[in-house]
Amino acid sequence: MKKKIFSGVQPSGNLHLGNYLGAIKNFVNLQNGNDCIYCVVDLHAITSKQDPKLLNLNSIETVATFLASGLDSKKNIIFNQSSVSAHAEFAWILNCVSRVGWINRMTQFKEKAGTNKENASVGLYVYPVLMAADILLYDASHVPVGNDQKQHLELTRDIAQKFNNDFSCEGFIKVPEPIIQKEFSRIMSLKDGQKKMSKSDLSEQSRINLNDDKDTIINKIKKAKTDSSAFPANKEDLDKRPEAKNLINIYCSISEKTIENAISEFQGKNFSFLKDRLSDLIVEKICPIGNEIRKLLKDKEYLLNVLKEGNQRANAIAQIKLRKIYDKIGFLNLI
Ligand code: TYM
Repeated sequence: MKKKIFSGVQPSGNLHLGNYLGAIKNFVNLQNGNDCIYCVVDLHAITSKQDPKLLNLNSIETVATFLASGLDSKKNIIFNQSSVSAHAEFAWILNCVSRVGWINRMTQFKEKAGTNKENASVGLYVYPVLMAADILLYDASHVPVGNDQKQHLELTRDIAQKFNNDFSCEGFIKVPEPIIQKEFSRIMSLKDGQKKMSKSDLSEQSRINLNDDKDTIINKIKKAKTDSSAFPANKEDLDKRPEAKNLINIYCSISEKTIENAISEFQGKNFSFLKDRLSDLIVEKICPIGNEIRKLLKDKEYLLNVLKEGNQRANAIAQIKLRKIYDKIGFLNLI
């Protein structure tokens, strides 16, 4: 059966291998045979401070990354969140449905706000509610994301159910299912196998950016942290070795091999052998994406037109759902 897919990526620059392997690669696989909507979530990006000129450029670059990774702008709706005002409007309604206790449990807020919680934006705090609005507005049945978004998806399901209960309209807001790969849904930093690969990491060496060139990729993999023990003998051993596990995971995710196959391939060899194979593989699969991003960015007009068309298509769906939501709530419709 056709799935209704919705997912989003923040245009905060430096899209990296984690974004690609954890999410965007899946977006591409899902585009055949499903109705897919992929959003550049610029409203989410401003939950932390953004330079307006950079936000503008990063939004365009995110579209370029979607297309360069293999998304088809005709098959899918590709749009930017702030151009469809229903997201912000529905988020307000869901703020009134959600409970403070639920939001207080969100671990990503705690991580991002760190020790300076008092100084974090209110937007960062209610960010998962906006995410719920994004998904629920389109009656999405499935949401492909990396593992770090799992808790936000669970919250989205709770919010959907509470809306239906509060307004006695069982089934009106669809309760979505997450699509999170069993393995490889959490790509870790190249410098610390316990930390997620992230665009906010201050160290460039911690991640492979999708627009890194060949030499940069080879250099980053060469310098990636490993431990001093011999290559792991089996999966159990690998589980205790976070940095080694991360490199093997990246290798398996890109080559679509199983962990067991990779372990036997590298058995008895040292880590530099794995690193050489891994850089070759990343260069082979990721460099063409970077090249295509650079090529697409030369034609901004085209990229803006992709968004314009997507915005119109998304807006048409979102407006109809929002009106139905307003009716359920009892808002007067007098325009
Ligand atoms: P964002 O922009 O941080 O990341 C985009 C996608 O990339 C995944 N990801 C990773 N996967 C594996 N390993 C990593 N190291 C890694 N880093 C990032 C994320 O899980 C995500 O799928 N809140 C979301 C954006 C969003 C959204 C939505 C997603 C807003 N509204 C509605 C789905 C549906 C976010 O900040 O993703």
